[in-house]
Formats: sequence, structure tokens, C-alpha cells
Amino acid sequence: MAQATTDPVRLPPGPRAPRLVQGVRFVASRRSSMGALAGRYGPTFTLNLPIFGRTVLVSDPALVKDLFTAGSDLVGRATNLGEVLGPGSTFSLDGDEHRERRKLLVPPFHGKRMAGYEAIVEEEVLREVAGWPDGVEFETLPSMMRITLNAILRAVFGADGAALDELRELLPKAVEVGSRLVVLPRVVRRDFGPYSPGGAMRRYRDRYDEIIGELITAARDDPAFDERADVLSLMLRARYDDGSAISDRHIADELLTLLTAGHETTATTLAWLVERVRRHPELLDRLTAEVDAGGSELQQATIWEVQRVRPVIDGTSRRTLQRIRLGQWVIPENYVVMVSIAMAHANRDRFADPSVFDPDRFGAAPDNYAWIPFGGGIRRCIGAAFANMEMTVTLRTLLREFTFAPTTEPGERYHSRGVANAPGAGGRAVVYRRRGEGRLSDCWESAGSPLSRADGG
Ligand code: HEM
Repeated sequence: MAQATTDPVRLPPGPRAPRLVQGVRFVASRRSSMGALAGRYGPTFTLNLPIFGRTVLVSDPALVKDLFTAGSDLVGRATNLGEVLGPGSTFSLDGDEHRERRKLLVPPFHGKRMAGYEAIVEEEVLREVAGWPDGVEFETLPSMMRITLNAILRAVFGADGAALDELRELLPKAVEVGSRLVVLPRVVRRDFGPYSPGGAMRRYRDRYDEIIGELITAARDDPAFDERADVLSLMLRARYDDGSAISDRHIADELLTLLTAGHETTATTLAWLVERVRRHPELLDRLTAEVDAGGSELQQATIWEVQRVRPVIDGTSRRTLQRIRLGQWVIPENYVVMVSIAMAHANRDRFADPSVFDPDRFGAAPDNYAWIPFGGGIRRCIGAAFANMEMTVTLRTLLREFTFAPTTEPGERYHSRGVANAPGAGGRAVVYRRRGEGRLSDCWESAGSPLSRADGG
């Protein structure tokens, strides 16, 4: 476990190039330059980066565990996300405030609650795929974006309906601009007029605040408010230990956090899922046979393996609040320690032939410190169980509805969208509707379920 120490500083080795040069390499070709540095210095090295400053990069499971389990007196948050999402976002909180917020948010996203959301996701998948063409190649990423945005909107606000339509339009645009702003220097985030990225973000945010204000008023006026189990109602009813309520402003920041953190990450992983399985025809056959037989183990292992070989978030960071010992290293106060998720997942000691896509490697649940797409410790992704549920339901539904045409084309390359990495060609697919019994869409149609949303979204 990481410990506070007064021992002399001992940093891992690293490149000596000037900060700006290292920064440009990091942003321009993060994956290949990190791979080259790992080849030269091993799994732990020190970088000097703009925005972050001197940064120790770790990926070895023992050090990852030490860092993720370090107390909140030793390490705190080290992300710019809070600056874009606002001071009331989980990403902006530390210490007691962070702990209290998580206590509040964990129950609606706890594994036990997931069965309750499955029908929502299934409905959203069926609504979306009703428009998929037979036998024509198309990008699946836009569909995955709509499915995951609608799923998280409905979990957060409870009901579907017209009030959410504008958020459906607004949020993808805000996420696109916000994801890029997060990785750029603070000055770029300023409002330099409507055509500047900071200005566009300001305007999206102002409109978002108005919509959330209306939804908060509507929730408070709802005669069934006390029985509602959606995240907005839980936040409105929640009280801190001193009896005070969370301010509406902080609720707006937090809801924006959940809507944005929970949407693009899951969608890009689903697009990678399509991209990977189409290149493994035998796996596709086995997955279809499993879903027809009512099983789920191989589907779960496939999702874990997609997250291992194509993690959509490259890394996560902590800032040292004191001088700490981390394994053999002694890291000064106010240093960033970055965990490379991509490098951890390529660790040969933990994953034989790490570049090979092989779901069968997961005979059991993955190790929490070697397989880390959701980070770890007290800041582990709040939405991990929700995302896993969404991906499982989506995969299961797609396999029931469609035959995916395999492909021998080379794998799609990484495309950075700012925060998340997506398949460069959008997770292209060719599908054919399955005929015969068991298709869920037939059951929905015969039950008279409205599978098309009035706005076509
Ligand atoms: C495949 C989908 C997802 C991936 C890969 C992912 C990944 C991550 C990662 C790497 C972190 C940082 C964890 C750390 O620093 O240790 C994180 C944090 C977070 N995620 Fe996710 N996430 C996903 C889906 C979601 C969903 C669906 C939600 C919302 C329900 C969500 C909400 C959050 C929040 C609120 C945090 C901040 C936690 C904190 O600082 O305490 N994420 N996520």
C-alpha cells in the first residue's frame, strides 16, 4: 500500500526532452509514444507534460493496486473534467465531500438495481435497430451513441418524454466540444465569442441549465415525487450529514457528469465490440449459439476482452497530497501519478499474447488491478455496473435480431474523440435480419409497443 514518507525523492527514469516536445508527442501519438517509452524504460517512467507537469506513469498491477487503495489523505483527484463540468461534479470533489456524493450516487448504479434498467435498454436498442439496413455497410457508432444517451437519460430522469428531446439534441454537441476542451490548456476554455469552442460550450451550458431547471421544478411538483426512484429525485431528496440539501446548481453539474461520462464511453466500447467480433467469425457463431440457448458467459467474456484490447479511456490520474512511497519509488507532493490503462492491459505477465483478441482467456472474472477499464479504488467508475448491463443487453439483443457478416478487412484504427477513443471508421457493420422465432422485435410489435419515438430520435 502507498504510504506517506520523508525519505529522499526517488523518481522512475524517463525522457529528458523539453516539456513542450513531450506534450506534443503525448497528444499527437499517445499510444505509440507510450509504447516506445515502455519499451525503453519499462512499465514505470516519469514524463514532463504541459497541464499535468511532472507525471509518473504506472501500469504494473502491484503499483496500480497501491495507488488505487491509497487513502484520500495521500492522493486526490487530478483531472480537468471538473473544470468543464462544474464545481458540483464528482470529478471536482475530494475527501469527505467526494465520499458523501458517492454514497448518494452508488445505490442507483449498484449491481442489484441493474435488472430494473434492462427493459429500458432493450427497448432503446430495438427502437434504434428498426432502421438498420439489411446487407448494406454502415457505421454503428451513431446508433450506439443514441442508445446509450437515451438509456442514461431515462435512468437519470425516470420518465421518457418531450422534456428530454432537447437534451438529446444538445448533449452530443456539448460532449463533442467539451471532450476536446478538457485536454486543451485552460485559456482555450474561455469564452471568446460564439464561434470559439469556449463560447459554444458556454451557450450549450446556459441552455442545459435552463432545461435542468425546468426538470427540477417538474420533479418537485410531481405528486408522486416521494416514490420516484430516478437519480434526479434521489439527489433532490438527499441530505448531507448536517441536514442540508444539495444545491440545484450542484445537482445540474452532477447530472451533466452522469449524462456525459455515461454516454460516449459506453457507445464507443459498443462500436469496438462490433468491430472486433466481425473479425472473429468463429466467435460470432459461438455467441449466436449461446444467445439462442439462453446463455451469457461468452457474451460477458467478450465484453471484458473488448474492454481489455480496446480500452476507450487511455488512463486515469491521481495527484499526490503528500510525499508518498509507491513500491520502490518516492514521489513528491503535488505530482501527478497516471495509470496507463492501455499499458496495464498489454502486460504479458497477466495476459498471455496480449495483442490477441481472445475472450476465452477470461475463465473467471478479471483481476481488479490488471484489468482496469473503469479505473479503481474510491474513484472507480460509478457507472461500471450500468455500462456492463447496457453492453450485455445490447449485445444480446443484436445477436437475437441480426446475423453479422464477418469481414477480413484490417482492424479499424484508433480515433481520439478527446476523452474517449473510438474505432476510426465508426465500427462499420453489415447485418442481415434473422428470420424465425425468438426475435424480440416480433414480440414487441405484436404487443403493440411504440418502437418509434415521435421525434425519430
Ligand atoms: C464503458 C463505459 C465506461 C468506461 C470505460 C468508464 C471509465 C471510467 C474511468 C476510467 C473513470 C475514472 C476512474 C478512476 O479514476 O479510477 C470513470 C469515472 C467515472 N465514471 Fe465512468 N466509464 C464508463 C461508463 C460510465 C457510466 C455509464 C457512468 C454513469 C452512470 C459513468 C460515470 C462515471 C463517474 C461519475 C465517474 C467519476 C468517479 C469518481 O471520481 O468518483 N461512467 N469512468
